[in-house]
Amino acid sequence: MALKKEVLDVLNRQIEKEFDASVTYLGMYVYFEKELFKGFADWFKKQTSEERTHAQKFIEYILDRGEVPTIPATKSPRNSFKSVLEAMKAALAHEQANTAGIYECLKVAQQASDPATAEMLQWFVKEQVEEEKWAGEYVEMVEKIASSIGGLWMFDHRVGKKGE
Ligand code: FEO
Repeated sequence: MALKKEVLDVLNRQIEKEFDASVTYLGMYVYFEKELFKGFADWFKKQTSEERTHAQKFIEYILDRGEVPTIPATKSPRNSFKSVLEAMKAALAHEQANTAGIYECLKVAQQASDPATAEMLQWFVKEQVEEEKWAGEYVEMVEKIASSIGGLWMFDHRVGKKGE
């Protein structure tokens, strides 16, 4: 059964959000590398690839349904932040926006009586729980230790180990 236009449109918007997250995290990777927070840099290098994979999953799904996905133009991301905390808060905001986007996709799929799309989106619903978890925890931890460079270095090291 063909994808309804409203479902195709909302999935295309989500492709844009996933690419936007990928490019945003690439900018954060650059920022953390420059600041010599190697653990955070490695983490965001991994996240930029993950987000690109997410965009690709939507692209492949739309193609599987016999439609043509729209590849968005990429915007130049920020590669400079006032602080580690500002960068982590921006990452959390991106994840929350992506979750809202996935929920919107699900709502449109359900309203369009499209069980295949709703089923495909379940992977993303679960994934966003994990994504908001790490981003929320990083903000919380950095808020606790923001005034301690030693604490930030230790947390950076721990995050680097996690990303290995
Ligand atoms: Fe693909 Fe982290 O949202």
